[in-house]
Parts: sequence; C-alpha cells; structure tokens
Amino acid sequence: MLNKFVILGAAGDLTSRLLLPALANLKRDKSLPDGFEIVGVGLEPLTTESFREHIAAALTEFAKDVPEADRTALVGALSYRQADVTDAAALKVALKPEDGPMVAYLALPAPVFEPAVRALTSAGVGRDSRFVIEKPHGTDLAGVERLNALLRETCTEGAVFRIDHFLGKQTVQNVLGLRFANRLFEPLWTGEHIERVEIRWDETLTLEGRASYYDRAGALRDMIQNHLLQILCMIAMEPPSSLGERDLRDKKVEVLRNVRDLTPESVRRRTVRARYAAGRIGEREVPAYVDEPGVKPERATETFAQVTLNVDTWRWGGVPFVLRSGKALGDTLQEAVVTFRQVPEISLWRDGHPQPNKLHLRFRPDELSVDLNLNGAGDPFVLEPAVLEAELAPQEMTAYARLLLDILEGDNTLSIRADEAEEAWRIVTPILEAWQGEAVPMQEYAAGSAFEPT
Ligand code: BG6
Repeated sequence: MLNKFVILGAAGDLTSRLLLPALANLKRDKSLPDGFEIVGVGLEPLTTESFREHIAAALTEFAKDVPEADRTALVGALSYRQADVTDAAALKVALKPEDGPMVAYLALPAPVFEPAVRALTSAGVGRDSRFVIEKPHGTDLAGVERLNALLRETCTEGAVFRIDHFLGKQTVQNVLGLRFANRLFEPLWTGEHIERVEIRWDETLTLEGRASYYDRAGALRDMIQNHLLQILCMIAMEPPSSLGERDLRDKKVEVLRNVRDLTPESVRRRTVRARYAAGRIGEREVPAYVDEPGVKPERATETFAQVTLNVDTWRWGGVPFVLRSGKALGDTLQEAVVTFRQVPEISLWRDGHPQPNKLHLRFRPDELSVDLNLNGAGDPFVLEPAVLEAELAPQEMTAYARLLLDILEGDNTLSIRADEAEEAWRIVTPILEAWQGEAVPMQEYAAGSAFEPT
C-alpha cells in the first residue's frame, strides 16, 4: 500500500466534501497504512495550519460518523504546499519525489490534467507512483485521447485510476449480483423479452455554487458521459468470466464499442436538452439557471439531458436505452427500469389487462422492486397489480472510500480504463457537436417541476 497521498488542487470542494471524509472513513476502519501522509498542493495561499483548520471543519460536517480521535489523527497527517501544479520545479520542492512513490490525485479541472501530468513527470514522480484522474476525464474525445497518450508515456495503465464514483456505489455493483447470481433474470435478459431500458438520475440539487465547473460541463458531460454510461454497461454487458479488472473492463468496453454512432439526424430525433427556469423546490425559491451567479447564458449549458441509445448486439438489437439526468427537478428519482415485453394478448381475464413487468433498480434509496400482475383478491379471474420489493443492504463504505482504498492497494477493477474513457467520449461527441448548432432546441422547465420532455 502506498502511504503518501498527494492532492493536486487541494483547496477545492472535492477535497473537503468527498476525499478527506472518505479518508476519515478509512482511518476509522483502520484501513490506512502506517505512516500515512496527505500533502495538499495548490495555488491558494494557505498554510499547513489553515489547511488543517479548513479540513477539520469540513470533517465535522461531512464525516460526522467518524470518531473525533480518528478525525484529529487524520488532520494531523495533513500538510499544505503552495505551488503551481503545472510547474515542475515547484512540484519537485513541494513533493520530494526522491523520497518514494506516491498517489498523485489530480483534483483539477480537465484542461489542467495534461500540464499537471507533464510537470509531475519532470519533477521526478516515477512510474511506481499512481495517477488519479477525476471525472470528467476530459472535455472532448480529442483531449482524452491526448491525455491517454501522455499517460501511456508516463506509466503503465495499471498505475492510472480514472475515477467514476458510481462504480463505488454498492447499488451499481449489485446489478452484477442480480444478473449473474440468479437464474431468474439472465435467461430473460435479451431483446426478445426486454422492450426498453431507462436509466434516470433526477436530482433536486441545483448548481450548489459549482458554476465555475458546471457551466462548462452541463448535464451531458457531468452525468451521462460517465455515470449513466457506466450503469448502462453494467446492465448490458455479457457475463464476464471473472470479476477481475481485465475481464470486467473488457466486457464494459465491449458494450460501449457497440453503442451505435449517432448522426446529426439521429441526435435531432434521439436527444433532448433543457435548462431550468425559475421555480420552487420544496421551500426553496430557485432562480433561473441563467440567473445563477457565475453562469454565462451564452454558453447555452443544459441542466437536463436525455439520450436514447442502441446497443447493436445480438442480445440488444432493437431495444432503446434511454438515459436521462437533470438538476432542479421536483423529485429525486434515481433508478434503472427494465421493462419486459407484454405477455401474449389473449382474453384470459374477466377484467384488467396485464401490464408489462418492470424491474426497478433504485439507486437512492437502495431498493429493488418488480411490478407484477396477480389474481385479484375477490375474483381470481380479475387481475390486479402487485409489487415485489426488496431493500438492499446499506452501503458500509462510502463510494469514494471504496475507490480510494482500491487506489492505495493498486486495484483498478473499479476505475475506468483508457479505451473505456475514449469509447464513452466517442458516444457523446456527436451530441455535443450537434448541440452547438440549433438542430436540437433548448427546452425549459420550471425548477421543482416533474419535467417530461416533449
Ligand atoms: C457528480 C456530479 O459526479 O455526481 C454531480 O458532478 C452529481 O453533479 C453527482 O450531483 C451525483 O452523484 P451522487 O452520488 O452525489 O448522487
């Protein structure tokens, strides 16, 4: 296990809200190695002392369930060096790479990945170190291909960890258990029996002060390019012969490779983009997206995206996969719904029509349910809907804690491989290009509404 954890871009939100709370979880669980140290690096003029104070305050909020003694010990392991992460000489002084390998976590905006990797290498951070790239792993296909080429010169693929925290979510991993550990589903898991798959991530969250990132990303880059395509992979993949990193990632990339290319014409028919207007979410008055601080309306950033994809394989031919995600919606609805085909239409029933069976894999709260048709209570020849429900075991480790532990241990199974990142960008690139024109109009929805695109 490596015991030096360097965060480049340490003063950002990700460090205090997610990375340090996750490390605090690992500290509590005694999963961190002896002599573990965390070095924060960034341009912000902080000192080790003020950085420690800032993190200690964040941990009281975001790692409440970790005993104070563990939080204090973790804060004691922190130091801060003010440096430009693209300046090799400054990094050499700040990081002392000659002391040994490290985890270099690039908690940076995508355009800074390449110069930061170059600077780390010139500073002497060697092939025995690990490089962690936060999502989004780039801003377009060409950029991701360039970054991957640079990483190939820098280290082995095994030393690169492209983060998608959805892969650390137990409910996402559970798709594999459900499919491959139960005889019930897999024989029906084909286009012959499945009509449609929807993967939906509706959030009530708005911008939450993230305009500097989000206004350049938008819903397609922020959610669909990575998280939702990963869920699609889990649902659509062929059975892997092991859950090792090679077999699992080969099967995921195979799904992405088989997603049909969108043309400008199909982007027009198969995608929706929209942006929230002023509204109310619960008690909260929400301004229109374009009036949020830091937003530039001329960027035409979408806060809602929907894309219908086809996976052109024998198993999935003709089955639409609808991926949608939006912010500032009325309800949190985060689930994958697998809709099975109708049973044959014969007039067996005195009353009621059988509705298609639907399997709901709900990611928040962690639940699973199946919509069935059963005989009615009074008259057995009358149909009634019924729901079979199961609550999934609560996640013991946060998704980030799971992924950080894997990084420290050098296990890439739950990180995104270079070819996987490129395929995912190949899928969304034609959409991004077509959206730059007028072909797909920007729809509007009131914040807090239940938006259904027209
Ligand atoms: C992040 C996105 O990666 O995932 C956010 O940047 C989004 O915009 C979040 O809200 C959703 O994940 P979770 O686990 O917080 O529901």
